[in-house]
Amino acid sequence: MNDAPSAPLAVILAAGLGTRMRSRRPKVLHPVCGRPMLEHVLGVARTLGPRDPVVVVSPATDAVRDELGADGVSYALQAEPLGTADALRTAMDAVPPDLDEIVVLSGDVPLLRPGTLHELVALRRAADATIALAVIRPADPHGYGRIVRDREGHVTRIVEEKDADEATRRIGEANAALYAFSASWVRSRIGDVAPSPATGEYYLPDLVAMAHAEGGTVVALEVADERELAGINDRVQLAEAEAELRRRIVEAHMRAGVTMLDPASVTIESGVELAPDVVLEPGVILQGRTRIGSDTLIGAGSRIVDSVVGERCRVWSSVIESSEVGDDVHVGPWAHLRPGARVGAGAEVGNFAEIKSSTLGPGSKQHHFSYLGDATIGEHVNIGAGTITCNYDGQRKHPTHVGDRAFIGSDTMLVAPVRVGNDARTGAGSVVTHDVPDGMLAVGVPARLRHRAAVGEPPGDRSGGRATQPPQTEPAAEDRAPRA
Ligand code: UD1
Ligand code: CA
Repeated sequence: MNDAPSAPLAVILAAGLGTRMRSRRPKVLHPVCGRPMLEHVLGVARTLGPRDPVVVVSPATDAVRDELGADGVSYALQAEPLGTADALRTAMDAVPPDLDEIVVLSGDVPLLRPGTLHELVALRRAADATIALAVIRPADPHGYGRIVRDREGHVTRIVEEKDADEATRRIGEANAALYAFSASWVRSRIGDVAPSPATGEYYLPDLVAMAHAEGGTVVALEVADERELAGINDRVQLAEAEAELRRRIVEAHMRAGVTMLDPASVTIESGVELAPDVVLEPGVILQGRTRIGSDTLIGAGSRIVDSVVGERCRVWSSVIESSEVGDDVHVGPWAHLRPGARVGAGAEVGNFAEIKSSTLGPGSKQHHFSYLGDATIGEHVNIGAGTITCNYDGQRKHPTHVGDRAFIGSDTMLVAPVRVGNDARTGAGSVVTHDVPDGMLAVGVPARLRHRAAVGEPPGDRSGGRATQPPQTEPAAEDRAPRA
């Protein structure tokens, strides 16, 4: 018995222009469920084993390299798109000479399932065939290469639509452009493919007739679901693929324990992770590298991008971007966590609250029309309604620190850089331009700012404002009002 065969090498053809997309972007870079369609194909190809797939690009699709990078993939450059056989010939330079087997895929089939590819490889090995190819019976075979079989049912050749006569065009069985080959055979014969008399292109499917003519075995895998192998050529097909892949992703999450009240309205990109017992209301959009912990409810219309949300949270009608939310947190309705927001366990971020590059400590509350930017807020702090960190002086951003258990009164302006100590308080409507020590109370507006406002003077630079009288500070009252 032979040793187990080594993993095949995947060649992905992506040098064609994709003109029917009517786009400046190469076709294979158009996203499906948040990832370029080529990345879906690469993901399937990588399930074959450890070898990096080879992607064939051309000068017209060279943007593919810039976007996908060189991690886990290598490239072959087809100087001119002379046809699929020419593309494969170009790729053979990147195939190690001792390799047994290659598979060839198109870059525009984002719905391909790994299982189909593995079946094809297994079929070729079982038959010890020169070529195994996937075939489909599309509802409308127009545009596909047609499968020609002999009386015994053996595949003898493939005829492209443009080269086919009337009788051949009536054949309903079509080439799906997914192949497994003996690598050494391809190496010896790929240079012999002749251009089509009809179009001048070098057709990869012509290898089938060559293998058959020399007595090699060609086997066909019939794939029942034509959608899986339908190439995306225009934006209508792109939208259909998006809908189908979205449906598959949503279904997989439901089977893994996620509740969805209206799955058809939910969009989940392929990199998202959801724990069991997450509940998604209608119209939720989850994107990028988002992770959500168990028993968390994501309310209607929320969008969460590249963020981590803990367990037992409740997010209502909010937007969360590149942020971290701890366990037992309430967000929204209508809150916006912008990049760099970190919300500690048990905190609350309420109506029309916005947080950017800031930490809101565990158990702290920020409700009602409030903005925190570049701020570090301690534990069990109350941020009163309308509180704003004035973090930007027109040129630079400045930090704000608020200590544990501080109580920030309604409509406080925290003029950064500024520190409010532990257990400190600010009165409603205060403009805080100086640090407030631990346990102290700041109230009012600095006198110089009041004067300027009264006489209509321009505010001048910030240091001028700071040089004047500090806000009145006094020890916080022992019998503080209970927190809101
Ligand atoms: C191809 C097959 C056809 C099959 C159909 C299935 C050929 C000649 N025909 O036709 O039998 O039924 O797929 O969808 O192969 N590409 C290159 N370099 C080139 C030309 C194409 O890399 O010079 C790439 C394209 O980017 C694409 C793939 O090869 O990813 C297929 O090319 P395309 O022009 O779409 O072939 P079809 O006409 O669809
Ligand atoms: Ca195609």
